[in-house]
Amino acid sequence: MKLAVYSCRTDERPLFEKYAAQYQIRLALTSEAPSLENASLTEGCQAVCVITTAVPPEIIDIWHSYGVKVISTRTVGYEHVDYKYAASLGIAVSNVSYTPHTVAEYTVMAILMVIRRMKTILIRYIGQDYSLDNIRGRELCHMTVGVVGTGRIGEAVVENLSGFGCKILANNLVEKESVKKLATYTDMDTIWNECDLITFHVPATADTWHMVNADTLSRMKDGVILINMARGSLIDTTALIEALENHKVAAAALDVLEDESHIYYKDFKYTPVAHHEMAILNSMPNVLLTPHTAFFTDEAVSDMIEYSMTSCLATVRGDKNPFQIN
Ligand code: COI
Repeated sequence: MKLAVYSCRTDERPLFEKYAAQYQIRLALTSEAPSLENASLTEGCQAVCVITTAVPPEIIDIWHSYGVKVISTRTVGYEHVDYKYAASLGIAVSNVSYTPHTVAEYTVMAILMVIRRMKTILIRYIGQDYSLDNIRGRELCHMTVGVVGTGRIGEAVVENLSGFGCKILANNLVEKESVKKLATYTDMDTIWNECDLITFHVPATADTWHMVNADTLSRMKDGVILINMARGSLIDTTALIEALENHKVAAAALDVLEDESHIYYKDFKYTPVAHHEMAILNSMPNVLLTPHTAFFTDEAVSDMIEYSMTSCLATVRGDKNPFQIN
């Protein structure tokens, strides 16, 4: 099998080469995102591996004309690939899963950082300000924490949080026995009403779009803390900013943001960032923003690449692709 790999970062290249040797896969690699101009990279390839950038019908048409059988996105989310269009041409689309601990551990780090006001502590330390004003924190063990979504990541978050002694409420369509040992499942009304801190671990769907909005924010406890390591679309950013400005929300940690895709993973040191909400949130001492890096560990990147390559191999060999979406 020959695999075309788009948006290949320098840290990924050795892993692609390692697994290519292990699974006898030939590679055509580029650091560029898929475009009409570079679609010919897939000539002679049966499979294509992409990451977060858009894969629209026009590009799929060209890949199809070169004989591509499978498109794998080496991410959990797959909303950027037009998988329905690909299916109409008989092209399989698959995603990957990877160790849930990468996002689950990052979530706990973000929770601790916001409740201990670490953004302010670190910024002030750089300026040699070692005073104690406005940095007094809170203890997690006294809080009621809501975990929205108990898939693999949410469940790992529940496990990690269980060591801190906080009360954990959880919400998910399907209730897992393993989670019930550590948390109490409840409805979303109770999560909104009773939690001191809410962390979100659900995918971006029509049902989860803006689940945090002016109405749900008004039902939360005064001084609630919000953690979003999942998808920017879960939170109505304008409503969140208003709730932070009027102190309804005491603090937030956001690894994801609406309209982040043209900004994150690029260097804007010398360029204005055209994202007004991001600028407002970034100015707030009680808001910790990170650029969608919760996934980024050695273990997860290795999983993303290996599972993407083996799932393509499965489709091309006519075996069941365990990650096929369409
Ligand atoms: C995913 O795998 O869906 C992620 O969120 C990480 C990706 C943006 C690299």
